[in-house]
Amino acid sequence: MQRQGFNRAVVVLHWLLAVSIFFLFISSWWMMGLPLPSEELQFRAFPFQLHKNIGLTLVVLLIVMLYMRFKYPPAPPSAQDMTPWMHKSAILAHIAIYGLIFFVCISGYLSSAHTKWDTVVWWSFTLPRIAEANEDMNEFWGELHTYSAWILLALVAVHVSGAIYHSYRNDGIIRRMMRW
Ligand code: HEM
Ligand code: HEM
Repeated sequence: MQRQGFNRAVVVLHWLLAVSIFFLFISSWWMMGLPLPSEELQFRAFPFQLHKNIGLTLVVLLIVMLYMRFKYPPAPPSAQDMTPWMHKSAILAHIAIYGLIFFVCISGYLSSAHTKWDTVVWWSFTLPRIAEANEDMNEFWGELHTYSAWILLALVAVHVSGAIYHSYRNDGIIRRMMRW
């Protein structure tokens, strides 16, 4: 029999993803406000490494989440819990969220790859360089990174509003992502 809610691993990964993405948004505005690096001022090094590492780890977690989600799909919600149009719009919104997270991470990586700063994976080894430092490319991907992050934030706001609406209706939707 199909499980009513999402698989346990998917539930854990969903909440880990949510906390990490909120953290990335809040910390990045602080990070971007720090002085540009120089011989004496290296304040940016730690927050940038942390930002890049959390972002890259999210890509791996997202792939595992998608794999588990399709290997152990939840039973579809009942028509009372979600009308067919709600179900269709939820599916579209979820696909857009998955796609945007990938795009935000890839554009962030490509922006960073065109700087002279290496990425050290969780302070253990340096990612091989894929490009030379190039100011124009850094700016190009950096802008795409910023714009796509804003679109992701807007979608997450819609997603959370939907969750609040389902909680107000007291249907079974929230429990699908809470069941242990
Ligand atoms: C950055 C924050 C968040 C992200 C990126 C995110 C992402 C996602 C994604 C991609 C799915 C689709 C899972 C799938 O069908 O494969 C999902 C489902 C879900 N999310 Fe979130 N989420 C976030 C925050 C939240 C919050 C704060 C809540 C609740 C207050 C929430 C409640 C839910 C629920 C209940 C579902 C299951 C919906 C269903 O059964 O179709 N999410 N989320
Ligand atoms: C879902 C994951 C991510 C989110 C939500 C996110 C979000 C953000 C935000 C909001 C900013 C500030 C943009 C600004 O105010 O101009 C930023 C900057 C930055 N992020 Fe991310 N990021 C993510 C993943 C990544 C990854 C994976 C990398 C690289 C491996 C990365 C590298 C950068 C860099 C280099 C900047 C500075 C860009 C610049 O100088 O204009 N980010 N990120």
